[in-house]
Amino acid sequence: MTTHGSCTVIVGCQWGDEGKGKIVDVLAENVDIVARYQGGANAGHTVHVGEEEFILHQIPSGILHQGKRCLLGNGVVLDIVQLFQEYDALLARGVALEGRVGVSRRAQLLLPYHRLLDRAVEEATDTKIGTTGRGIGPAYEDKAGRRGVRVIDLANPERLAKRVAAAQERVVRRLEELGATEALATLERDMDEALALGPRLLELATDTGPEISAALRAGKKVLLEGAQGTALDLDHGTYPFVTSSNTTAAAAAIGTGIGPTSIDAVIGVVKAYTTRVGEGPLPTAFEPEMDARVRELGGEFGATTGRPRRCGWFDSVLARHAAQVNGLTGIAVTKLDVLDTLPELRVATAYRMPDGSVTESFPADTWSLSAVEPVYETLPGWQAPTTEARRLEDLPARARAYLNRLEELTGAPVQWVSVGTRRSQIIPCGAVA
Ligand code: GDP
Ligand code: IMO
Ligand code: MG
Repeated sequence: MTTHGSCTVIVGCQWGDEGKGKIVDVLAENVDIVARYQGGANAGHTVHVGEEEFILHQIPSGILHQGKRCLLGNGVVLDIVQLFQEYDALLARGVALEGRVGVSRRAQLLLPYHRLLDRAVEEATDTKIGTTGRGIGPAYEDKAGRRGVRVIDLANPERLAKRVAAAQERVVRRLEELGATEALATLERDMDEALALGPRLLELATDTGPEISAALRAGKKVLLEGAQGTALDLDHGTYPFVTSSNTTAAAAAIGTGIGPTSIDAVIGVVKAYTTRVGEGPLPTAFEPEMDARVRELGGEFGATTGRPRRCGWFDSVLARHAAQVNGLTGIAVTKLDVLDTLPELRVATAYRMPDGSVTESFPADTWSLSAVEPVYETLPGWQAPTTEARRLEDLPARARAYLNRLEELTGAPVQWVSVGTRRSQIIPCGAVA
């Protein structure tokens, strides 16, 4: 199919929280549609507009630009209660939403029993994932197990009741096995609340694939917004310490219902250092003192759960893996300003494996990843503020050298550099799709 507009995927290249929300918000000014393609309310995308901060969990980060259409694709697990909480909170803050939000008829519903099960399983298990507790795993399990309830089922109350009852009954049995029945106390009430929102959700229903394809044929521009990041991808991440969806760029086609040939560009968002929240290995983790310092400088606390994020040096082994898996056409480097005061910076270029061998590729064995020793290269810090830079030339030479090195090691051109939370704090660097 020939497309005339442009379709760009924005994808996280680390363990989430790379600043996708900020980048999508900045780029959304010049597009017509922004669509989420996977994940659910486990995402926390922070966007600053003037003095105001918005944290979006379910609604795409294009919503803060007037008139842009924001879609939730079939690949999303849609938390109906969360969606309308967010929707109503945006309305209350003066964001005009009429006709702007669309949800795929094929999207899976994430219902209150998914959250109960997520939390009960985490509580009961020895190998904790450190999930966000938003019900993501159980909702995708129901999808893959063909027990899921979809948006379109809301249009047929009889079928809906049957499918919900079957899925819920199974969850109740599992909660009983786990000895977590106290969690059931409010389930009936919560389910009534969720399902009462069905008619309201149906008013937003659309077919995201045809809608996006028609827009592209009409010459419009589309952004497909990823949630989480490459290292949390169900196949390509640090399994099993991952989320339950494919977060990477190829999922953007499946998760919205367009063909892969409709995608023109893939921009990977990388933080200028690394963070991780939840369990699982972080090879380039800082020593405790530095960890605390960068967490403070970068405000590294989870946007969804408030948990402190672990911090570490930039990991180019992971960045190259992300470039390969996502087919990156460019990268957006965020939070460069957070490094402004550091006297020197390290970048991991390879891993020394437990057997002494050195590798430049991201190992499939997650447990070996816990035991690798990163091979570092040290670069001088610039120790000057970058927050006012608006062109590459405005940056200190050492900051430019750092960016050049990230580009070289990752193998994808730097197209954007973000130097603060504000919309204006962005440096465009060359050809952008
Ligand atoms: P996302 O999940 O990828 O959208 O990222 P989060 O919103 O969870 O976390 C990124 C955090 O960094 C948010 O608080 C953003 O406001 C903030 N942020 C984004 N870009 C920049 C930047 O360039 N500099 C600074 N200092 N903060 C940024
Ligand atoms: P955004 O879109 C960072 C992590 C959790 C946990 C693992 C599985 O804001 O970048 P889940 O609730 O998905 O079953 O948890 O994934 N995680 C995230 N970490 N940013 C996110 O989203 C995340 N979404 C999930 O901490 O380790
Ligand atoms: Mg986040």
